[in-house]
Amino acid sequence: MNFFKQINEYAHLNYLHPNRMPWEQAAVGDELDFLSRALVGEMGQEDKAVAYLYKELAQLAEIEMHVATVMSRTLCELQACNTPFIAGDGLYHALSCFAAEEINHANSFYQYVRHLSGRDIKLENNLFRQRIELYCHENDAPLIKLAALCSTAYVGESVITVFERRLKVLDPMQHSFLTKLLHFHGLDEARHIRCDHAIFDEVIPTFTAAERKRMHHLIQETEALNTQLAKASAETVKAAFDLDYTEGNHAAKTQLDMTMRFREQVQSGDLIRKVDDYMDEETAAVVRQFSLASRVHTGLSQL
Ligand SMILES: [Fe+2]
Ligand SMILES: [Fe+2]
Repeated sequence: MNFFKQINEYAHLNYLHPNRMPWEQAAVGDELDFLSRALVGEMGQEDKAVAYLYKELAQLAEIEMHVATVMSRTLCELQACNTPFIAGDGLYHALSCFAAEEINHANSFYQYVRHLSGRDIKLENNLFRQRIELYCHENDAPLIKLAALCSTAYVGESVITVFERRLKVLDPMQHSFLTKLLHFHGLDEARHIRCDHAIFDEVIPTFTAAERKRMHHLIQETEALNTQLAKASAETVKAAFDLDYTEGNHAAKTQLDMTMRFREQVQSGDLIRKVDDYMDEETAAVVRQFSLASRVHTGLSQL
């Protein structure tokens, strides 16, 4: 079986559908206390934990919708592309599943933060038009766009994998709503990571020097727009909650630190590198301190 086809062999059994979670129960029982301890790092910081999750997961939903949109458009463009990678139905299946799952994640995270907080804050300044236009240049081959898109999504997917592991260490029986949500989300993400890795291993090394340069340009521009989106989202959520959720917030600090480190490790070479292959000692220590494991992506082949 084609490798890309194989990735989604069990996707119909192990997945997050938005109907899987009872959203109205997002904040019941000890959940807010757990979130305060697991994220901010101390008791009594429930508001900070909720505002932090609102900002990060609503912003992630925006990024997931962008990934899904660009990926499905790129897949249509690939139909007219003379590349052996589009032969058969392997890549078509893998990218269709990837894009569809990202829409389900965006839907899930928006429902989650709204029920968790009891608020409905729109991220009006989401830069969607600019982020789409970046991937509309006629001269860019579809595979270059796909490589750039996956190289940027991969960093966030790696960071949330570490968060999922931290919650499972603190809550091994998965009593918490968020632990369960990240578990189901992680079932899909493990497949996305395998798809990203296949693109890094099989597709990017076939690019010419000029194509790699263009890919890196798209990566930098995407990251720059994502950084602007993060700033705008932070301002919106801080104003709505009237609270600086980053102050004394262990998870917020670690997330930013890991994002910068992973981005550098993954994107700074000529080719795109897997996060665990170039993990330096300092970064491994940050990951271990947060999740009790030094590697980010483990056991992917069993999923
Ligand atoms: Fe996702
Ligand atoms: Fe993903």
